[in-house]
Amino acid sequence: MGLVREPAPAVQATPPSRTSTPPSTTRPPSTHPASRPALPAAVTYVPPTDPVGCPTAGAVAAAQNLADLQRATEGCLACPLGPGRLKFVFGEGNPQARLMFVGEGPGRDEDQVGRPFVGKAGELLDKMIAALGMQRDQTYIANVVKCRPPDNRTPTAEEAQACLGYLHRQIELIQPAVIVTLGATPLRELVGVSEGITRVRGQWKRVKVGDREIPVMPTFHPAYVLRQYTQEVRRAVWEDLKAAKDWIDRPGPED
Ligand code: URA
Repeated sequence: MGLVREPAPAVQATPPSRTSTPPSTTRPPSTHPASRPALPAAVTYVPPTDPVGCPTAGAVAAAQNLADLQRATEGCLACPLGPGRLKFVFGEGNPQARLMFVGEGPGRDEDQVGRPFVGKAGELLDKMIAALGMQRDQTYIANVVKCRPPDNRTPTAEEAQACLGYLHRQIELIQPAVIVTLGATPLRELVGVSEGITRVRGQWKRVKVGDREIPVMPTFHPAYVLRQYTQEVRRAVWEDLKAAKDWIDRPGPED
């Protein structure tokens, strides 16, 4: 398998000096040695008020399960990506997953089969999950945008924001204990952190979804790992994933 397994440092505690946002005052860090690290504050997503060609925010909010949400959203034409897709890639996995991965958007393989992370990057993601002692179907995997951007370009901010309400509702329904963002795009669009991924990976963030705040562990996108297949990059991803796994394995007051 491709990851460099090393005794990961106990969870990467996030001292205030390493974060761009101040630590929340709503959840004081515990002093228990095996406790979870403190998280910085979350930003709030405001859905677009003039959606065109897509379900209303009310219809999205009314979906009571993932199948309802998929039915409500899979005909979406809210942004220019809709007309170009072969398949709407809603996301897949355990509807009660404690660990959720969020990538950028479908590539060519995903567009053809309608499932997230099924190409080369997906193979590596599967290996990463297996390295954690988990199976893919114990997790949930989704993307910021559900339709393939042409030539696999990064989705624009408008495309991402048009789609983000769907991801938020997905997260509300799943209620994961931790989200791992893969690459810069989900970190920027979902969590509101625009710093370079190389700088912020491994540092706990949080996202507010509905009335919950969810810890976020940013790491590299598997496609980047495949391009930069160095020991340093693989070790970094392993440490980030271990931190996320440690979080879900430790009981906490948020659960
Ligand atoms: N890259 C992503 O960000 N998402 C996918 O589903 C596949 C590749």
